[in-house]
Amino acid sequence: MFRSPLLLLGILGLINACSGLTTLTLNHTYPLSLELSVQICVGHLNRLNPNTYYTLGSQGGQFPTYAANDQFWLDTLHPSSTPQNKDLLQFLLQDCLPILGEVIEYNYEVQREFAPQIVTASISLYAVAISTSVETPAELLQAIRTYNLALNVTSEWSELTALETVKRVFNDYASKFPTKTSVVKIDPGYKYAGDHRLESQIFEFFSDGDTTTAVYGYDDFVPLFGGDTYEAETNCIKEHNIGQVASTGVNNIQFYSSFGAIEKPLDSNPIPTITYNASKTYVAFVVGDGDNFWHLKNNHMKLFLQRLQFCTADPSTCYPMSWSIAPSASQYMPDIINYYSDIALNTTKDYFVLPPSGSLYSYPGLMSSDVQKKYIERMEGDMNIYNTRISVHWEWFYNWRHTISTYFNSWSEYTTERTGFILANVPYLLPMFIFRLKEYRIIGENVVLFKPNEWRYSSAKQSHTTEEMGDIINGFKPGYISPVYMTVDGSLEPIQATYDLYTEHLEEWVEVVPVECLVELVFEKESLERGGGEKE
Ligand SMILES: *[C@@H]1O[C@H](CO)[C@@H](O)[C@H](O)[C@H]1NC(C)=O
Ligand SMILES: *[C@@H]1O[C@H](CO)[C@@H](O)[C@H](O)[C@H]1NC(C)=O
Ligand SMILES: *[C@@H]1O[C@H](CO)[C@@H](O)[C@H](O)[C@H]1NC(C)=O
Ligand SMILES: *[C@@H]1O[C@H](CO)[C@@H](O)[C@H](O)[C@H]1NC(C)=O
Repeated sequence: MFRSPLLLLGILGLINACSGLTTLTLNHTYPLSLELSVQICVGHLNRLNPNTYYTLGSQGGQFPTYAANDQFWLDTLHPSSTPQNKDLLQFLLQDCLPILGEVIEYNYEVQREFAPQIVTASISLYAVAISTSVETPAELLQAIRTYNLALNVTSEWSELTALETVKRVFNDYASKFPTKTSVVKIDPGYKYAGDHRLESQIFEFFSDGDTTTAVYGYDDFVPLFGGDTYEAETNCIKEHNIGQVASTGVNNIQFYSSFGAIEKPLDSNPIPTITYNASKTYVAFVVGDGDNFWHLKNNHMKLFLQRLQFCTADPSTCYPMSWSIAPSASQYMPDIINYYSDIALNTTKDYFVLPPSGSLYSYPGLMSSDVQKKYIERMEGDMNIYNTRISVHWEWFYNWRHTISTYFNSWSEYTTERTGFILANVPYLLPMFIFRLKEYRIIGENVVLFKPNEWRYSSAKQSHTTEEMGDIINGFKPGYISPVYMTVDGSLEPIQATYDLYTEHLEEWVEVVPVECLVELVFEKESLERGGGEKE
């Protein structure tokens, strides 16, 4: 029995010190329940020594898995490793079970809905959950008898309802850990997340209630208004600030996060000083959807590479670009973020901003006042890491006035630095009434809210072709200041589209600037309008 992580670490260190990386392919050659056992093992092993990497084959769905992208990251981040591909059953029998020595018996067909709780129990018991399905290979069934049975879910949970299993798991296992960092909402999605829930004691469906807490996974059960209405919602935002880390469909998070979180501010490109000219129009391009780990790992990868290629081919058409990036990615996929940061430095024109709505995928306007203040402190830390004073912020259409009088008002009391928020309405099709005649609104001394100027191809109502977007921007009245927020979950290709826009459709008076400059430009514009050209 190796219940102690330190002891395990010692043993794993000896075993793995000289061996290379193991890769596993979860492409449904084996039953799903066996793949879940593999993910649990990968999580346990990587938690102590990041040496095992798995691809999910290529599967469709809203968040498809691309084996090729996993291969890209493996080659890019670990170029000198010589990975050995291993058969899943052999991996379980040879590499995992002998080391962990603990098993949990359950039956996938009957107890499938308990999968999250079973994974949680596996975390706590340093055990491998094995299903006694008819499809389970005989050698693996045999392992249930060979190793120590830490828990028999088949017998012990047979009479329990789903709610009772959650309570049981909380009392028996999760509550015994000193820190309870996170809750996980899974299924759909559990089959991708087995490894990552082992990270930092991520447990199911509970929170310690007084610190900022995240939900992992992605809530897309209620696809109204174009699919994203309730995604960021949990019923616990008000009291506990349970926002979300959208991580569905992303494997190897345990592996990526084992190489050390980014704790110091990333190097970033200097922000140019731009003198406001009332005859010009100022726009900034912001790539959206970086709140979502799937986009960060898959879509952003292609877009960053494309961007590097465009900027390298012709630096004269390398206009500034800002990218929304989930702050939690600096913890859970630090090397991927470092890679993007390198590209940003190489182009000299790329910047990071916080995604909707800042630290977590959440609606801060729904939080209680105390929680809002804690959230602001957390945002401040995240802004420092990414060297930005900008966040995308979304909120339910009916809640803006309340959000301004509470959350943004607290921001203005809190911050001594000028800080900008690019607002987005949920649902995005509805108009927003808080801006009156201007394209921005200043709260207190330092906080600027920007009117949304969204660009997406996904819905008929807002599908602007590049020509149409050019007409919109060229048609802004002189002096207009506007971030163009581009969502990539439709068919918009933001790098190609902004390139076409920039090189073919923008008038001479339109200047594309880093989004960070917009805030300063607003204050310059205000002081010009108030004081007849005097700067403060
Ligand atoms: C699944 O992956 C294994 C190991 O790489 C490979 O041998 C097998 O051919 C793959 N099966 C399918 C259906 O792709
Ligand atoms: C677990 O419980 C089931 C149901 O009672 C039983 O059939 C099975 O033998 C038990 N497993 C072990 C390893 O004892
Ligand atoms: C960025 O540039 C440096 C120096 O030219 C180079 O070593 C590095 O590989 C580049 N990074 C990327 C991601 O292209
Ligand atoms: C201000 O912008 C207009 C339009 O692009 C340009 O013609 C003019 O020269 C600019 N003024 C200064 C002082 O740069």
